[in-house]
Amino acid sequence: MRTVFGVLGNPIEHSMSPAMHNAAFRELGMECVYHAFRVDTGSLEDAILGAEALGFGGLNITVPLKQEALNIVDADPLASSIGAVNTIDLNNGIHGYNTDGIGAQRALADAGVDIDGQRVLIVGAGGAARAIGFQFHDQGAEVMIVNRTEQRAVELASAIGVRGFGMERLEELIGQADVLINATSAGMYPKTSDSIARREQMHPDLTVFDIVYNPMNTQLLIEAEAAGAIGINGVMMLVYQGAEAFRIWTGVEPPINVMKNAVMEALRS
Ligand code: ATR
Repeated sequence: MRTVFGVLGNPIEHSMSPAMHNAAFRELGMECVYHAFRVDTGSLEDAILGAEALGFGGLNITVPLKQEALNIVDADPLASSIGAVNTIDLNNGIHGYNTDGIGAQRALADAGVDIDGQRVLIVGAGGAARAIGFQFHDQGAEVMIVNRTEQRAVELASAIGVRGFGMERLEELIGQADVLINATSAGMYPKTSDSIARREQMHPDLTVFDIVYNPMNTQLLIEAEAAGAIGINGVMMLVYQGAEAFRIWTGVEPPINVMKNAVMEALRS
């Protein structure tokens, strides 16, 4: 079995992935290592081919390299639709996947939400919104997209085959939604008082999922709680996207709780 893994991105110093994967390898007694590498956009192809030549088992790809990676790897259909790769398997060729959407789906499933048939309102039109939008549509959710820049919402929505709107429709659309997802960076440290929605705009039957995990309890989740809605933070999406990559590389069932504890510990330090 291949024993070296890593994440490529820039900046990369604050990545939670090394702590998460190394904890999983330790727990399972696997003699593997996972390291973070700072890679600039122009060097991505060299880095991926170099990792393959060195016998790495797999890679994660993060900001700002996920889109560029698509042109370098042999991508699966979901990653191709999303237009971005976050996981590369090097065991037999250079195969690209995107596990961000399934990470979000599993995080919701953990909280008892099966997205099949649910009306899901996604706020945002960047990489995270794309990954979640395509995955959830694929899995039977009724997806709607809202974004600050309306044009981007409309473009993403039409690529998926759903409807996209500007922010002025937010309140009305939340009223129709079962699940509200913040797929923007609004509320992320250091601008922790930002929130894409206020408590008066939400209802008690809503599940609110925030992809932000720093802080864990975002202003959006504080607003959701005040509205009587269920709130889910971004930690489990981070864990499940990593767990899915781990499964792809090793074929071994990942220890979810160990990975979660490693992330929580890294977030506290
Ligand atoms: P990523 O790939 O991480 O999703 P991105 O492509 O830069 O990042 O997209 C960021 C998303 O967050 C965009 O949808 C952005 O809205 P715009 O398209 O209007 O720029 C959204 N976003 C960022 N900060 C926001 C804020 N404070 N309020 C609302 N939306 C915000």
